[in-house]
Amino acid sequence: MSGLFDIDATIIKNETPLTEAFMPERLLHREGQKQYLASCIKPVIAGRTPRNVFLFGPTGVGKTSLLNWMTDELENTTDNVKTVYVNCWKNTTPHAIVSKIVSDLKIFTNPKKQTLELLEDLNSYLLRSSKKIIIALDEVDRIADYDILYDFTRNGYGLVLISNDEFALVDVDARIKSSLSLETVEFKAYTTQEMFEILKDRANISFMPGAIDDVFTKVAAVNADGDARVGIEILRKSALFAEDEGKKKIEKEHIIRARKDALHLKTSQILGTLTEDHKLLFQIISEKQNIPSSELHEEYKTRAKAPISERTYRKYLNTLTSLRLVKADGDVRWRSYSLI
Ligand SMILES: Nc1ncnc2c1ncn2[C@@H]1O[C@H](COP(=O)(O)OP(=O)(O)OP(=O)(O)O)[C@@H](O)[C@H]1O
Ligand SMILES: [Mg+2]
Repeated sequence: MSGLFDIDATIIKNETPLTEAFMPERLLHREGQKQYLASCIKPVIAGRTPRNVFLFGPTGVGKTSLLNWMTDELENTTDNVKTVYVNCWKNTTPHAIVSKIVSDLKIFTNPKKQTLELLEDLNSYLLRSSKKIIIALDEVDRIADYDILYDFTRNGYGLVLISNDEFALVDVDARIKSSLSLETVEFKAYTTQEMFEILKDRANISFMPGAIDDVFTKVAAVNADGDARVGIEILRKSALFAEDEGKKKIEKEHIIRARKDALHLKTSQILGTLTEDHKLLFQIISEKQNIPSSELHEEYKTRAKAPISERTYRKYLNTLTSLRLVKADGDVRWRSYSLI
């Protein structure tokens, strides 16, 4: 009997690998970064202090995935190390960051304590336990006060810092920078061929056999614009469109439609993590299509309720370009901004 709520799964065999929470078994085309990160972290297995690392690159290029992979590998290899993960967009202040670490390590303390007292609890835990602690700070450019990095390195924690912005740490105080002595690992946007292989791998575990032809996986790869998150969302959406039409195969038209949705979702997800001032800047650039830098600044100052300082303004524009929401053309004096 066919019911009203029957799902006619003609294409999707398993939707889980198409969701954000899924951790792929294989991280393709990240061998160089993997080796390098492992070499920086390795001393920790012998009980020594690891080298601090900075991972940077645009969205959806495997930075967080590689960190998760490393955490798993480490915890399968040794009991001497504990990695704690903090997303600095969700925990911007030093207090929030240290609280998150203390809570993840299940250290008994009073969360109402001041940051310095919490740090002392953390330090005495480090001294008491024989473990080394690696602190991973994702989206580190959102940190409200970089001094906390100094506190971490001074007390012997290993740091893995992650950002979309290559220049996230340029304004950091020289004293903090030298205490960090960071190794840098770049993640470039995937090429079409790399993306094709990543998407093919994902399609193989998610779709019924033969549901997508290679030539269409290639179309999805071209349209993902180097971002694996967008690529995987294109696969998911195009499969749903094809299933809605009762088709057994994904067609080019489904992919093109899915691309629009996936890019739209990406923009709104990213904007959702930004401040009102970032959003205002993005809105002005969207409205004007292409706007000279000086005009943008004037327009921003007119519209903003409480305009931010010049330095923060430059930082915010930098964030919008490094997140590839907008692009900047021309040299410093004649710079103009437009949508990607
Ligand atoms: N090399 C890869 N092989 C397989 N899957 C990948 C690869 N790189 C990324 N992905 C997948 O793409 C999605 C985004 O990856 P990830 O979250 O690691 O990106 P990111 O670089 O941290 O992006 P953001 O800067 O937006 O946080 C995840 O679902 C991940 O599984
Ligand atoms: Mg990430």
